Amino acid sequence: MKVSVQKYDPSIDKEPYLEEFEVPYHKNMTLLEALVYINDNLAPIVFDYSCRGRDCGRCAMALDGTPCLACVTLVKEDGDNVITSLPGFPIVRDLVVDKTKVTSRVQQIMARKRAKPLTLDEINAPVDPEIYNKMNPLEQCARCCVCTAACPVVAEMGLKKFVGPTQMIAIGLRYYDPYDQGDRVVEAVQGGLFNCIQCGTCTSVCKALEIDHLSVWADLRAAAEERGLA
Ligand code: SF4
Ligand code: SF4
Ligand code: FES
Repeated sequence: MKVSVQKYDPSIDKEPYLEEFEVPYHKNMTLLEALVYINDNLAPIVFDYSCRGRDCGRCAMALDGTPCLACVTLVKEDGDNVITSLPGFPIVRDLVVDKTKVTSRVQQIMARKRAKPLTLDEINAPVDPEIYNKMNPLEQCARCCVCTAACPVVAEMGLKKFVGPTQMIAIGLRYYDPYDQGDRVVEAVQGGLFNCIQCGTCTSVCKALEIDHLSVWADLRAAAEERGLA
């Protein structure tokens, strides 16, 4: 099977280039398995991974131009299998990118906003099942940034005009969170909620299958409209 891998050392190379390898194929071979084979047997490649199961978000890259997680994406025996770094993020080396422009913002968003610390009564109170069902899927987000890399609005307008789905999912999570007291609706609107064209690309590339992005966007939009913020 043919596999082409992006190589790039910013201290030496003017721009990224592809190197082609021949990899022995087996049924249901993942992109990550192909990379590990190349790295162990053919040539060193710089790439990142940890959990091998869509949890850590570290193996985000692109196969034939489509952003994906390498550990749960299959290569094709007769395909081109062109592996490049996650689009839209600065390349550190080969397939490793710097995602901090999104992940550091997500960290800030995830910090609960509170006027006063949580009380024991609040902590011990049972969580409303409806709220739990809204929050639980969003907790599965690996912050991999695959959806942000695939979002056509982020590509067109940049993160300043639309923070993109990874950050918006974090805003949605804290919007549903009964312990959070921040105004997450304003945060979503200021983050470009209404610039999203609701194309659903984020959902189609996301491997956290529990997450229904469009329903989160719909809830935030409805709350914004109710307050005349649309
Ligand atoms: S929503 Fe999905 S694709 Fe987007 S960052 Fe979270 S896990 Fe990754
Ligand atoms: S639905 Fe919105 S956030 Fe998701 S990919 Fe499309 S424009 Fe981006
Ligand atoms: S290795 Fe953790 S998500 Fe792929």
